[in-house]
Amino acid sequence: MSNAESAAIKHRHKLISQRVATLPPSGIRKFFDLLSSVEGVISLSIGEPDFVTPWHIREAAVYALEKGYTMYTSNSGMLELRQELANYLELHYGVSYDPENEILITTGSSEALDLVMRAIINPGDEVIVPDPCYVAYPADVVLAGGKPVSVPTSEENGFVVGAANIEARVTNRTKAILVGYPANPTGAVISREEAEAIAQLARKHDLLVISDEIYSRLVYGAEHVCFAGLPAMKERTILVSGFSKSHAMTGWRIGYVAADSSFTQALTKIHQYTMLCAPTMAQMAAIEALKNGESEVNRMVQEYNRRRRLMVKRLNEMGLSCFEPKGAFYAFPSIRTTGLSSEEFAEQLLMEERVAVVPGSAFGPSGEGFVRCCYATSLSNIEEALKRMSRFVTKLRKRSTRQ
Ligand SMILES: Cc1ncc(COP(=O)(O)O)c(C=O)c1O
Repeated sequence: MSNAESAAIKHRHKLISQRVATLPPSGIRKFFDLLSSVEGVISLSIGEPDFVTPWHIREAAVYALEKGYTMYTSNSGMLELRQELANYLELHYGVSYDPENEILITTGSSEALDLVMRAIINPGDEVIVPDPCYVAYPADVVLAGGKPVSVPTSEENGFVVGAANIEARVTNRTKAILVGYPANPTGAVISREEAEAIAQLARKHDLLVISDEIYSRLVYGAEHVCFAGLPAMKERTILVSGFSKSHAMTGWRIGYVAADSSFTQALTKIHQYTMLCAPTMAQMAAIEALKNGESEVNRMVQEYNRRRRLMVKRLNEMGLSCFEPKGAFYAFPSIRTTGLSSEEFAEQLLMEERVAVVPGSAFGPSGEGFVRCCYATSLSNIEEALKRMSRFVTKLRKRSTRQ
């Protein structure tokens, strides 16, 4: 590269905002780049259902197109969809929302999370986030001009943020506690008692709870606790969710926020200038998902559960101790006994055995010593991947006894 070219690149970089320039790239993305350079890989790395969206839902979108539903909807989303969502939230979690002004349809829960941060954060405000956590949580806080404050969690406390640990980090700048249970990357669920302790803390310090419940339908023998359904919590909880995981609809980009109208109104102000509305055909598909999708959701959950049991059993058998994830579709085994860092483990496993897992460190410092294995892939893929992992772990043990 000539001096003139590198000077031009440097100049262009200077035009990028400080906030974005200093934001670290997602640790997951870095790993995907490496993954794309290796052939014949079984991937346990991508957090997305391997199921195609059920046909009746796809058909509803095809029908919407045939009927000419190709225009904008209201900023808040189609009223019929908001009505169906209000019924759904009442039915599953016993929380009632007014479809007219307490529900906003968004372009995936990703947009919802971004809107929430931008709507509530003044420069320097703090938002408490669990560590490890979904990679977008701290990034969304930073991009909105806030400061993420991490609360470490561990296998010993089931990867759930304890109220006492949160309280130790509350300052006069704390605005909200961001929680996401069932959790990515750990598969942890929160018990009613633990959620109530956090709710009590939020009331005591007048904090908001932003609850990302995108995995709420994917629970195995455990209860999903909806924060907004806890006593006196509806008015201080911003519930974020979507259809990506429950209905295998990642590519449709459809999610929602349910909250007191003062919050949905504030969020809508940003949404109307940036997104206008969620895709119309996706909204039509989501209506069908809510009306007739239950049996498909249950079928997928049963299948995930079979895979989950197999994965956790085999990981423990090969000596990678794995706490029992009761939600989402991730196992989070400890790889500490191998003596490798989680990044080294993931890289060597990929290169030597062609299995992709995500280093736990990509989700925060407390993820070090763990890897995330997603079981949203076929049982045969999981069996083969676990065979390869077991061979890899045995090889590592032999290597370390020889040294
Ligand atoms: C915890 C969590 N929240 C939100 C999202 C984003 O989902 P959506 O497809 O609704 O934007 C993901 C995606 O992986 C996730 O794991």
